[in-house]
Amino acid sequence: MELTGKVAIVTGGSNGIGAAAARRLASLGVRVVVADVDADQGKVVADEVGGVFVRCDVTVPADSASAVEVAVREFGGLDIAFLNAGIGTGCSLGEDFDVETYRRAMAINLDGVVYGAHYALPAVRERGGQIIATASMAGLMPMPGDPIYGANKAAVVALVRALGGAYPDVRVNALCPAFADTNIITPLRSTLEDIGMPILPVSAVVDTFMSIVEGSGTGEAWFVQSGRPSEPFGFRNPPGPRAADGSRLDAACKDPVSIALKES
Ligand SMILES: NC(=O)c1ccc[n+]([C@@H]2O[C@H](COP(=O)([O-])OP(=O)(O)OC[C@H]3O[C@@H](n4cnc5c(N)ncnc54)[C@H](O)[C@@H]3O)[C@@H](O)[C@H]2O)c1
Repeated sequence: MELTGKVAIVTGGSNGIGAAAARRLASLGVRVVVADVDADQGKVVADEVGGVFVRCDVTVPADSASAVEVAVREFGGLDIAFLNAGIGTGCSLGEDFDVETYRRAMAINLDGVVYGAHYALPAVRERGGQIIATASMAGLMPMPGDPIYGANKAAVVALVRALGGAYPDVRVNALCPAFADTNIITPLRSTLEDIGMPILPVSAVVDTFMSIVEGSGTGEAWFVQSGRPSEPFGFRNPPGPRAADGSRLDAACKDPVSIALKES
């Protein structure tokens, strides 16, 4: 895939996976808008990649809208929206539960992706581009130590799978890394090391990100796991409705909600 001259927004682009993805994209000729709340580091990354920094708090819808406006104004359009900003939750249920911490985690990790996708869609559709959201392995498997994180990342996977089927002219996929070597794992790092849990180099996560960018699939959730080649996670088909005699129904293959929306 020829990437030279394409335009990307990277949320959470000031650090970690986002900064590394911004560097990789720029090395392939992509014009990059780094969108983050960390302005100091974001400007450093943007300067390094010859891109533009925009202060964007992904929990604020207008900020996601203005990141898209900046991409269109500065570089003429938008081909890739990498909705990657995220935080670890830091609270569980029970005694540990804190409503503000919970709402903040949902706002950044889920609302941020919804707003980002909503505002990116018109520009991305215009260029037949793509949206990639960073979910997590925690969205594909139980994560008892951080159920809120698991919940918002699973929601991102579900969102992406639905959007992948909703827009034939846009590809929408999720990136689902296991533990990777960024600031987000700082509170867990010594435990991970003690139990011998491998920590992915950020470059491995970016390799998979690039496989998605340069691929052709949509509605997929690509895992990144140590010692395994990355690929789209193989979801089992959920059971559809059957007739009283157990035979398959035509309706089982249709999505009644999108049919109703189109007809209304
Ligand atoms: N590192 C891992 O182990 C791991 C594993 C699975 C998924 N992830 C996901 O990868 C993504 C990137 O995280 P990372 O590991 O690079 O961590 P990181 O902390 O290095 O980077 C996260 C970035 O998001 C930015 N950010 C935080 N809140 C924001 C907001 N409200 N608006 C805009 N930007 C905001 C931060 O400033 C930072 O630059 C996150 O979605 C995270 O959940 C990380």
